[in-house]
Amino acid sequence: MNRMSAAAMAAAAALMLAACGGGDDVFQPPGGGGNGPPTLPPPASAPALKTVLAAKYGVVDYPVGAAYEVVVTGAPTPDQGLLLKHFSSVTAEYSMKPDIIWPNAPGTNQPAAAPNFVDADEVYDVALLNNIKVRGHTLLWHQTAPTWFFANNPDRVTLSQRLCQYINAVVTHFPQIYAWDVVNEVASDTQNAANPYRTASPWYQAYLAAGVANPGFEYVSDAFACANTARNNAGRNSGNMKLMLNDYNTELPGKRANVIQIVQSLVNASVPIDGVGHQFHLQINADVSQVTAALAAVEAINGTLVNHVTELDVSIYADPGECFAQRTIPPCLADVGATAPQALLSAQALKYRELFNAFNRPRVTSVTLWGILDNRSWLNTFPVTRTNHPLLFDAAGNPKWAFWTVVDPSIAVP
Ligand code: GLA
Repeated sequence: MNRMSAAAMAAAAALMLAACGGGDDVFQPPGGGGNGPPTLPPPASAPALKTVLAAKYGVVDYPVGAAYEVVVTGAPTPDQGLLLKHFSSVTAEYSMKPDIIWPNAPGTNQPAAAPNFVDADEVYDVALLNNIKVRGHTLLWHQTAPTWFFANNPDRVTLSQRLCQYINAVVTHFPQIYAWDVVNEVASDTQNAANPYRTASPWYQAYLAAGVANPGFEYVSDAFACANTARNNAGRNSGNMKLMLNDYNTELPGKRANVIQIVQSLVNASVPIDGVGHQFHLQINADVSQVTAALAAVEAINGTLVNHVTELDVSIYADPGECFAQRTIPPCLADVGATAPQALLSAQALKYRELFNAFNRPRVTSVTLWGILDNRSWLNTFPVTRTNHPLLFDAAGNPKWAFWTVVDPSIAVP
């Protein structure tokens, strides 16, 4: 009888798995036990990310999300199949933002006659049809506020009426959404700021111009109060539709202090906020102990606030701070091109493993990646146009080392 070598047997097993389309919970270890560096397991042997993480976190149907848009034109891309296999939650990358849903009427400073839910409905309907939960993002963001909200020097009552009208229309249109980023990026970037709110926001400026004494607190409170009323109108409650404050850089102590100061003041005033969304747009050199500190700081405010990880990605570029101010190369790091050096992919993979371990806390109740495929990430044009590789799947839709380190605690990287 012919005896197969170990390598040949491993190859045959991999082929059989690939031919069978792979199992959800079985995959080959890398390297086939040989002496060479580990090699990537066959893509078809990848288990479903959502299944692995639900088991890891001990929560049935744990929401493991991705930012996504339904693309109805052009060639199909692998992200659709990956969404269905690996994810149990979705966030519309663009289509639920205020300037898309309710823009100005063309050429005017007035609102369009009616909201436009076409693209958002597509994301919502496709997700729910496929048993995928939907995270709402976002009801208020300084970057996507149509100017009709602020037209004709409104007083505070008018401002809050416009805001409530908008929020009520959107929240009641999507009653099954399990969490809304009610406000996005309202905290100041100035470290440990005395006024913790972002002042360069049309919302802040409009409340200020209306003579409101504490404009940041007041417009954010109004947004949450409106969202709470709208949630009731949608027949939902804080158990099944969370109202969240979402922001970036909470892993940096000076920015985190601002976010925590805001959330604490909202809680003190009994504003109906259920938790904090941490964007966690991270770099490969991120300090995961500071990620944990951000989650713990929210949990320390009271016994009920939850944390969501809302926009996770890990840039392979450890850019210096000046890169984000100047947005040129240098000081941003040079483009590595379409094929990232293995050392970066391995370091990124170990960072992702550390992060998903850090998210294993009872009050982290949702984790979302900001995209599925590396080549469709916003980080290919921000802070500069340059090929990035920040997600779990490469441009061809194959799981990267970053995927495998997350789903298999024992896997070694090259
Ligand atoms: C912020 C927003 C997201 C998205 C990203 C960049 O983080 O919250 O909606 O626009 O920027 O794509």
